[in-house]
Amino acid sequence: MTERRLEGQVALVTGGGSGIGEAVARRLAADGAAVVVADIATESANAVARSLGDRALAVCADSGSEPDMQRAVALAVERFGALHIGVNAAGFGISAEVLDMDVERWNDVMRVTLGGVFVSCKAEARQMVRQGGGGVVINIASTNALQPAEGLSAYCTAKAGVAMFTRVAALELAQHRVRVVGVGPGLTATPATQRFLESPVASAAYLANIPAGRPAKAEEIASMVAYLASSEAGYITGDTFYVDGGLLTRNYPTLAERRPSGYEGADFLKTVEGEIPSR
Ligand SMILES: NC(=O)c1ccc[n+]([C@@H]2O[C@H](COP(=O)([O-])OP(=O)(O)OC[C@H]3O[C@@H](n4cnc5c(N)ncnc54)[C@H](O)[C@@H]3O)[C@@H](O)[C@H]2O)c1
Repeated sequence: MTERRLEGQVALVTGGGSGIGEAVARRLAADGAAVVVADIATESANAVARSLGDRALAVCADSGSEPDMQRAVALAVERFGALHIGVNAAGFGISAEVLDMDVERWNDVMRVTLGGVFVSCKAEARQMVRQGGGGVVINIASTNALQPAEGLSAYCTAKAGVAMFTRVAALELAQHRVRVVGVGPGLTATPATQRFLESPVASAAYLANIPAGRPAKAEEIASMVAYLASSEAGYITGDTFYVDGGLLTRNYPTLAERRPSGYEGADFLKTVEGEIPSR
């Protein structure tokens, strides 16, 4: 019985305007939660919230900004009375090899993909502790928390950090009955991956390494999040759960396997795989 199992709960989803965060926002709402859709992409967040009706609210918030996330949590409480579930899905990678990586681009990834999880978790958990009734924070990691990938050093390092941060935060927050868990998606079809899923060479290289033979749907990641958010997962904290179609049983494709024809070295990475989102 999963229907409306989050009735009466209030959730905040960072990165809720697109992809996995959007699917999570929609699933939590379908399960009965009121949802705050937080994103730097205001239009996307508005569109998602609007489509969910009056039990949803869009907030323009940078997950790496403490004032933004404090404001997002305050708005959740003002509008819906409390906060019980935080899902931290905002994140991105950039593609560059270590020898060519600009420090600024490395720092961009660390500030949002790792730092944003800390900043968001802090703001969400402080509210849960203030309320005194417990809660759950779910951090979106990646199979790249465990699996190294050439050209993705900043992303892999940030995601490994998310998995470890999840453990430490769970340890500290257990006394307040706040659970902290991670979900590590494998390759998932979202706007972020659309470009290289449409590239025949890159797509074939990725899919050859996924026993399930296809990328995940964002809804399949959201169903794990919805389970972990529910009281059925009440004894689960600290761990990161991988939803990957078996990807972690194989190796990540090498640069040579992913390189489309017409490119040399790692030149294709920025054009085919990497981009930094902005407001
Ligand atoms: N798609 C995949 O294959 C995949 C696999 C593993 C993990 N993930 C992780 O899942 C999460 C979502 O990825 P996606 O594929 O859905 O990407 P996406 O680009 O479709 O959505 C990401 C959303 O986050 C928002 N965002 C970016 N920076 C932000 C910031 N500073 N503050 C607030 N919002 C911000 C973007 O505007 C966008 O709406 C990311 O953390 C990503 O690393 C994705």
